[in-house]
Amino acid sequence: MRVLVGYASGFGATAEVAKVIGQVLGEKHAVAVHPLGEVRSLEGYEAVVIGTSLRANRWLGGVSRFLSRFRHDLAKRPVALFCVCLTARTVEGGRRIVGESLPRLLARYPEIKPIAVEAFGGVLHFDKYNPLVRAVMRRAAAEEGLPTSGFVDYRDWETIRRWAAEVGGKLAQAETSGGEA
Ligand SMILES: Cc1cc2nc3c(=O)[nH]c(=O)nc-3n(C[C@H](O)[C@H](O)[C@H](O)COP(=O)(O)O)c2cc1C
Repeated sequence: MRVLVGYASGFGATAEVAKVIGQVLGEKHAVAVHPLGEVRSLEGYEAVVIGTSLRANRWLGGVSRFLSRFRHDLAKRPVALFCVCLTARTVEGGRRIVGESLPRLLARYPEIKPIAVEAFGGVLHFDKYNPLVRAVMRRAAAEEGLPTSGFVDYRDWETIRRWAAEVGGKLAQAETSGGEA
């Protein structure tokens, strides 16, 4: 299948996850990985994997724009969704994002029914933030008992690769059964 992995990323953490997911999907499919904002058309793609980080419990604006623009095209293709955020650094937090936050955000697009939804732990990268964001994130991190400076990476690459392989398998199945995932 020709698969688009499109992502929205503020400071690069989700972009790196999207690239690894693209590599794994590439074992079974023809994959292109692009920022969502650069996607002009879904023509030529038979499936779409969408990735975003979370800010203030919402996905990045590029995702809303992408879903609104391509909602009808997406309704005809298998879609998978992943998010990268601090809450998902714990199993319980990840469940909350997958079970509550993402369904709430997806509710505005009822025609899009993802074949897979997952949340992965994210990154704190204080050196990349401007002073205002750094202050906000320091406070948020301190409240959670997390480090308040430097680079902290909660991404679990094994889990990410395993999910990508599962999605790749589902898409291969959809291909052989004529489109239904
Ligand atoms: C301004 C800001 C707000 C954030 N808000 C949330 C949040 O509401 N929930 C959460 O779980 N993570 C939150 N995070 C953590 C990010 O989702 C995490 O750092 C992620 O790895 C960022 O990925 P990116 O570099 O692709 O944007 C926030 C990060 C920033 C910088």
